[in-house]
Amino acid sequence: MKKVFAAVLFSGILIVPFSCAQKEKVSEPDQTEKKVVEIGSQATKKLLQTLKSELIEAMKTGPLNAIDVCSKKALTLTDQVAKEIGKGIEIKRTSLRYRNPANAPDKYEREVLEFFQKLEKEKKPFPKYYIQKVSENGKTYYRFYKPLTVKPICLTCHGKVQDMDPKLQTKLMKLYPGDQAVNYEEGDFRGVVRVSIPEESVK
Ligand code: HEC
Repeated sequence: MKKVFAAVLFSGILIVPFSCAQKEKVSEPDQTEKKVVEIGSQATKKLLQTLKSELIEAMKTGPLNAIDVCSKKALTLTDQVAKEIGKGIEIKRTSLRYRNPANAPDKYEREVLEFFQKLEKEKKPFPKYYIQKVSENGKTYYRFYKPLTVKPICLTCHGKVQDMDPKLQTKLMKLYPGDQAVNYEEGDFRGVVRVSIPEESVK
């Protein structure tokens, strides 16, 4: 397996370019990165575990019920997990081909999604995560991104339209008229979990 690396990119209005920060205080970027990864991984893991157990439970009563869980609970559960982690953390799932417009990427997220999409096109391995430093409206925060790929269980609701249960398809079309999150195949890049961490939390 290829060595896992972290891509650290500073986006938005640059506050401290990486190279300058390194000159001023050699250990700082590493320490900060370590904390960002620690909090980001913890939040991502918790969210994915929560969503997975809800999904498995709901699938027992069929995919139609599971859709309800995903559509009614996904966003609430995401906010709930963020609150449990605390420290001003915000979590979001986003994708270039999203189902719910509420999950559409902003410009920083788009940049990262396109980075992963490019790697996928070039058949290059994904890093485990990606970190961005963003400054907006006088607030600086780190964004930790975890790439998600399509697993067999995802295909029920994100797979080929022609293979989909017609009832499920009808329901999805009703709930999400502009749904772009279909026709995926196993192993495809699906999107990311994005964790925002205020700068103060990793100092
Ligand atoms: C039972 C159907 C179902 C299954 C199975 C399912 N999803 Fe989804 N997925 C949905 C629905 C519905 C939404 C929209 C949720 C919302 O309204 O926020 C969604 C949204 C998402 C999003 C947020 C971005 C967007 O498109 O709105 C991601 C990322 C995602 N799913 C990934 C996955 C992955 C990865 C798997 C497999 C591990 C999976 N899903 C399995 C139904 C499903």
